[in-house]
Order: sequence, then structure tokens, then C-alpha cells
Amino acid sequence: MILCQCKQVSEKEIATFLKNHPNAGFDDIKAGTKASTGCGRCAFALKTLINKTQKKQVLHLQLRLPFV
Ligand code: FES
Repeated sequence: MILCQCKQVSEKEIATFLKNHPNAGFDDIKAGTKASTGCGRCAFALKTLINKTQKKQVLHLQLRLPFV
């Protein structure tokens, strides 16, 4: 599904970018994918996707940590 209509960037492209750059922030993703560099209408959806994906990554890392 296309998240950014102006630059034709899909959710999958953003998820892949986040997978390869787990600490990337909003500006890093904008620079790396060109999403949200046009009208900016997709900025909220992009931030929501970043938060959702990074929360999943944190949960995944937490589950892999040994219980202390
Ligand atoms: S829809 Fe993403 S910048 Fe316009």
C-alpha cells in the first residue's frame, strides 16, 4: 500500500528501511526514502508507522533478552 502519494513510497519500503536502520528517526527516513518530502500530508501516517514498527522491534529485542 502506498503511504506517500507524492513520492510513491510504500509502507513496505519504509518497513524495509526501518529493518535495515533500526534507530532511524523521521528525518532519516525522509532522507532515505523520500517519503513525506512533498506536500507533507503523509507525515502523520509516516510517524505512526515508525512508532508501530519500532515498538515491535523493541518488543522483539526484549523477548530475546535473558531473564535476569
Ligand atoms: S503524500 Fe507524502 S509528501 Fe505528499
